[in-house]
Amino acid sequence: MTGGPPEPRNVWVDGRLVPASGPHLSVTDRGFQLGDGIFETLRARGGHATELPEHLLRLRHSADGLDIDLPPGLEERIAAGIRDLLEAEGLAGPDGDASIRITVSRGAIPGRGLLPTVAGIPPTVVIQAWPVTPPPPSHLTEGLHVAASTIRRDPENPLVALKTTSRADYVHARLEARRVGADDAVFLTIDGYLSEATTANVFLVRGDELATPALACAILPGTTRSLVLAWAGRAGLRATEGWLTTRDLAEADEAFLCSSVAGILPITSFDGRPVGTGRPGPVTLRAREAREAFIRDSGDA
Ligand SMILES: Cc1ncc(COP(=O)(O)O)c(C=O)c1O
Repeated sequence: MTGGPPEPRNVWVDGRLVPASGPHLSVTDRGFQLGDGIFETLRARGGHATELPEHLLRLRHSADGLDIDLPPGLEERIAAGIRDLLEAEGLAGPDGDASIRITVSRGAIPGRGLLPTVAGIPPTVVIQAWPVTPPPPSHLTEGLHVAASTIRRDPENPLVALKTTSRADYVHARLEARRVGADDAVFLTIDGYLSEATTANVFLVRGDELATPALACAILPGTTRSLVLAWAGRAGLRATEGWLTTRDLAEADEAFLCSSVAGILPITSFDGRPVGTGRPGPVTLRAREAREAFIRDSGDA
């Protein structure tokens, strides 16, 4: 146990709030055995789950991609489960600021092997919530150091754009980054183009252009990425999606990562060399503020 934020007291498992200490799941659960599952992470302000429809749509898309049958009405049950869990955790009030994880596995299917042995077993659905911990101040004042992972992404891999619980590649990349003193890793495609970071999409600022790897570059179609692309026009920037190189990153005026829970965080060095001035840039900080305001406003609405 560390001195971090309080541990959750409850979790939501298959429709019920239960003590977080467990036990909850069968050892036969395919999520545990094979990483055969999907998940979403999102933020909730003032008890309001930000962009919940977008996250639930992506959850269903990931389920379809793995042929996991989600029962009809699951979205409504998850929405109600989030409300109950935030309430139980004391995170539903006007000041509540939570990160939420929805995890769905193919279910507790007995037997061995990759193919499910029994049909008709329902997926396991879990919701967890934590108070949001603000990023370490240095992440905003100094920015993040990122390093290219040795793991390459294949844009033709049908699973690459799904949010599956098979996260060993991502864990490995994060450990690699830590070994070289970086805060995060950036994946490149097999042809050496920029893809994404381990839990975030990547943006570059070049003059009045806000550039990000295209959906074809083996990325998760991030909800925050969509928000930033829509925001660019309002901020007087030209949004572009394309094939970007490590040189583009190294030579950008600014770069940043974006994701639902952490929001927008500056990248100030790549593979040990400064990006731009080596300090968080003005466009990045404006984008961060716009994203935080969006979350605050959707919580107040
Ligand atoms: C690999 C990866 N890319 C991108 C993102 C950003 O997606 P979103 O903005 O929907 O949180 C995430 C979020 O967890 C992620 O895991």
